[in-house]
Amino acid sequence: MDPSEQNQWKRAAAEAAAKLVEDGMVIGLGTGSTASYFVAALGKRIAEDGLRIAGISTSEQTATHARSLKLPLTSFAEHAQADLTVDGTDEVELGTLYLIKGHGGALLREKIVAAASKRMVVVADETKVVEQLGSLVSVPVEVVRFGWQATGRRLTEIGANPSLRLGPDKKPYVTDGGNYIMDCAFGPIANPKEVAHHLDHVVGAVEHGLFLGFAQEVIVGGRDGVKILKKNEK
Ligand code: A5P
Repeated sequence: MDPSEQNQWKRAAAEAAAKLVEDGMVIGLGTGSTASYFVAALGKRIAEDGLRIAGISTSEQTATHARSLKLPLTSFAEHAQADLTVDGTDEVELGTLYLIKGHGGALLREKIVAAASKRMVVVADETKVVEQLGSLVSVPVEVVRFGWQATGRRLTEIGANPSLRLGPDKKPYVTDGGNYIMDCAFGPIANPKEVAHHLDHVVGAVEHGLFLGFAQEVIVGGRDGVKILKKNEK
């Protein structure tokens, strides 16, 4: 896969999503390289067309990017909901539009923002689209630092094959929320709801990267241009 071609696909999807944004909206801003193309496209609309919006960021990284583009930021103290959230994904399952997210480390804030949005649109390149969730990537699980080894043992008991995520310095990766991430290699997941249910009940796990029922549509950039995936369509 040529990375520059993949980046063009990401950018095309993100720019299509930016056209959905209207004056006065509160926008959930995702995290990752595809979401950053979306933030850049919004910055351009603010500078060139005078678009007036406020963003709720899913990470410190995205917040820094938004500020650099003069995209005003707000929070759930000021707004009960975002009108629209646009975020990337690590995998999307055809038909269900179930997602695996969190390889960028922002899954907890991403899920909070997605859950408090009227609409979630996902932007992706075609390499992320799968027939069965878990085919390409592990499921990130954010765990509190205290007792992470015990939490890891519990994850092993439910078949999660967890490994502690490390940063480039080989020390445990720490999220914006001050927690660790355990990447859980389930392999292809036949019943995502059942796995999510198990993960929901692991003491010490704050949140997991299975986003089931959040995405209403997925904008996919690829070889043949931009396509929109909707639920129950293959
Ligand atoms: C961030 O925590 C993730 O959920 C991202 O949305 C995901 O990793 C996609 O990132 P890219 O757009 O960089 O592939």
